[in-house]
Amino acid sequence: MILVTGGAGFIGSNFVLDWLAGGGEPVVNVDKLTYAGNPANLASLSGDARYRFAQADIGDQAAMEAILAEHRPRAIVHFAAESHVDRSIHGPGEFVQTNVVGTFRLLEAARGHWLALPAAEKEAFRFLHVSTDEVYGSLSETDPAFSETTAYAPNSPYSASKAGSDHLVRAYHHTYGLPTVTTNCSNNYGPYQFPEKLIPLMIANALEGKPLPVYGDGRQVRDWLYVGDHCEAIRMVLARGRTGEVYNVGGNAEKRNLEVVHALCDTLQEMRPREGGYRGLVTYVADRPGHDRRYAIDARKIRAELGWAPRETFESGIARTVRWYLDNAAWVAQVRSGEYRHWIEKNYEKRA
Ligand code: NAD
Ligand code: DAU
Repeated sequence: MILVTGGAGFIGSNFVLDWLAGGGEPVVNVDKLTYAGNPANLASLSGDARYRFAQADIGDQAAMEAILAEHRPRAIVHFAAESHVDRSIHGPGEFVQTNVVGTFRLLEAARGHWLALPAAEKEAFRFLHVSTDEVYGSLSETDPAFSETTAYAPNSPYSASKAGSDHLVRAYHHTYGLPTVTTNCSNNYGPYQFPEKLIPLMIANALEGKPLPVYGDGRQVRDWLYVGDHCEAIRMVLARGRTGEVYNVGGNAEKRNLEVVHALCDTLQEMRPREGGYRGLVTYVADRPGHDRRYAIDARKIRAELGWAPRETFESGIARTVRWYLDNAAWVAQVRSGEYRHWIEKNYEKRA
């Protein structure tokens, strides 16, 4: 079986669902169930003997050791993290705790597990670390896209903590020989994304006729990737990626934030017409402190070595995503109750 951390979050739950739908071996999902973890994402697996869930903190090394001893996975796919840049600005401590210390504890548990495996299983074992393009910092309009050799220059507490985790993973390969592989991916979107991130937040607000809060001038650029394409890249890297290597994963879909918001408004207008349309809801608000201007991914390595390329275009991915949020209003309502309201108040209500 394989062990997935953070499998109740956005990308992790898409990965588990796709993995099992594709006939992959059984999965044990280890998740602390923070505000971002939602067992409902995996409700369709209830009663499926191939799926096991363990509620635990990756920073609890004894718990991780016990789970590894019980399930004896042949691979770990590590998604668990605090993942939202704005939250890292309001409260960086949790990011250091989970992303740096938690990854360290998980690596220690994984190393013990790996060392105790018989030779053939030891050889086949993989620790796949899921990371982000934000570790490379910010690009100007004309800079070349991030490659695997771009120097690290993280700018937010989130990206700094992910950079720390990447360095630890690298060191565990270099020093101890742990068979690791790291992916650094651009902005994901798709089903089950918590509506604190740009795309689901804009869809949810638009459907309620609320303002669509664009930070600063809205001209920042992100490279958008449909989550199913990211999951496929992870499967390929797990199967055939070279240990000790890093693979950048991107959608080849650089867009300004305002273009993304307008695309969402226009897609909503086609699927759920609103008198006067949705674009008029766009509202410029105070910028994110330290806001990175542009991210772009050079994904030539994963394409050349593993034959991966995204299947969705930005247009097809956005249409699928908007359709999913329209069809899953109950999921959105459930995740927007409770803690979510406090976050919205904290991040937006005092913003000029
Ligand atoms: P998410 O916030 O939606 O989910 C994170 C999951 O991790 C949640 O289920 C949460 O409960 C769990 N978790 C948090 N702290 C934990 C802990 N201490 N122990 C165990 N579980 C814990 O995140 P996501 O957007 O799905 O991102 C998944 C991974 O992919 C992260 O490592 C993130 O840095 C990386 N990534 C995300 C994106 C993106 O656009 N969302 C892009 C590139 C890389
Ligand atoms: O690049 C990969 C990263 O993408 C991941 O590592 C992170 O986990 C993920 O959260 C994402 O980070 P971003 O900060 O780029 O994503 P977010 O959806 O928060 O914001 C996207 C852009 O939209 C960014 O420039 C900020 C802007 N924005 C965001 C929100 C929530 C707004 O203008 N208004 C908003 O309300």
